[in-house]
Amino acid sequence: MGKRRVLVVDDEPGVRESLRMVLKERYDVACAASGEEALRLSAAEPCDVMLLDILMPGLDGLEVLERIKAEAVSPQVVMLTATKTVKTAVTAMKLGAYDYITKPFDVEELLLIIDRAVESAALVREVAVLRSEVGLRYGFENVVGNSPKLKTVLRTISMVAPLKTTVLITGESGTGKELIAKAIHYNSPRADKPMVTINCAAIPDTLLESELFGHERGAFTDAYTRKAGQFELADGSTLFLDEIGEMNPATQAKILRVLEQAEFTRVGGAQPLRVDVRVIAATNRDLHQGMRDGSFRSDLYYRLNVVSVHLPSLRERREDVVPLVHHFLRSKSRDLGMPEKSFTSEALDLLMQYSWPGNVRELENLVERAMVLSHETKLGLDDLPGYVCNNNGQVHPVQQSVLRGETRLAEAVDQFEQDLIRTALAQAENNHTRAAELLGTTRRILKYKMDKLGIASVGES
Ligand SMILES: Nc1ncnc2c1ncn2[C@@H]1O[C@H](COP(=O)(O)OP(=O)(O)OP(=O)(O)O)[C@@H](O)[C@H]1O
Ligand SMILES: [Mg+2]
Repeated sequence: MGKRRVLVVDDEPGVRESLRMVLKERYDVACAASGEEALRLSAAEPCDVMLLDILMPGLDGLEVLERIKAEAVSPQVVMLTATKTVKTAVTAMKLGAYDYITKPFDVEELLLIIDRAVESAALVREVAVLRSEVGLRYGFENVVGNSPKLKTVLRTISMVAPLKTTVLITGESGTGKELIAKAIHYNSPRADKPMVTINCAAIPDTLLESELFGHERGAFTDAYTRKAGQFELADGSTLFLDEIGEMNPATQAKILRVLEQAEFTRVGGAQPLRVDVRVIAATNRDLHQGMRDGSFRSDLYYRLNVVSVHLPSLRERREDVVPLVHHFLRSKSRDLGMPEKSFTSEALDLLMQYSWPGNVRELENLVERAMVLSHETKLGLDDLPGYVCNNNGQVHPVQQSVLRGETRLAEAVDQFEQDLIRTALAQAENNHTRAAELLGTTRRILKYKMDKLGIASVGES
């Protein structure tokens, strides 16, 4: 990487020159003789750090500072000040200056401050880049699909995103609930802070409250220190309560209180804390059923359900399958550093007919698997798992009867093996050696299985 750029702004030529001499070893130094010239130069070629004199004819240092800081990406500004203007330098810090240096300056101190300012400018830039990347990743345009059902969802979330409204997202597993929660957050005024996510199903009941609300030291046996909860961490941002259907009713009551009063207390604490948190909740459970059987509080349900977004299963919007496949082919090839691949039209047809019990997540995994396991750039029927091709996601009748508990698994397996052996024998015209070959086993093992399964050997040919 090239040298970092420092822009020196001072109306006195002597000061500019001596600063240039001191800094030119380490930095790429530019100089401006006035505030106006400084703004022009920094617009033409952004600098990392601006060394800015306070007292100048025309635009003075404070005015330049204000204009610079109003821009989206601004350099770190270090004010140059005479002792009599130190007060002003302090004001400048409140306006966003990084630090100040008094004239006449001490070279070591100067270099130290500039080094730190340059480092900090690099960090600020990195964070800005990361943020815009995160924003890009979770923008509405990353929610792929053209189906009218998905379009309705997108319309709803683009309307509620800018507000503080609570949103309840429902839908089967893998339909994109978390993706939608992120799209809402990263398109809201809270986007400059990360969304805080808590998965209610992953945390045991006994710990969930302290996770959410934090605890005071000594609140319970293992509470050696005070700990902030997710509600505190999400202050000014969004808290995503994932799998809220798994939350126990006692904790549900506390969540309701935070939603209604915007305050809570840490576990073991007495002091109520106020927070500004937007809540988005998601579940793949039927909360109506939960309310009927008493596992989900109806008051919380109605409080969460101010706006509800239901994500339809993928089989209810098959027209999204092809755009999603293309999206994942592209994004996976980029992530995995592989050449782009595509599916044959026969393969795409099958994918559109399949029932996708695991929804978009299942499709994403299938695409990645097919890409990684095939050497070809064209992915065909052979690259799809058998269940997609054979029974189209429908469960075989024997499997169903096992799942309903009507048939024992061992019996079903025996039945399957018997059918397979009979078919192989028929195909091999009762030649045991050939049938064994078809089954990938030996003649001896085939004979043993036939005896065990009671398959009569009708006059081997
Ligand atoms: N419309 C979509 N466009 C692009 N990617 C999607 C879409 N829907 C889902 N995905 C991707 O599918 C995967 C599963 O989505 P996500 O984790 O949001 O589902 P979920 O509904 O939260 O699932 P679960 O209930 O199992 O937690 C993610 O990798 C997500 O990025
Ligand atoms: Mg999820």
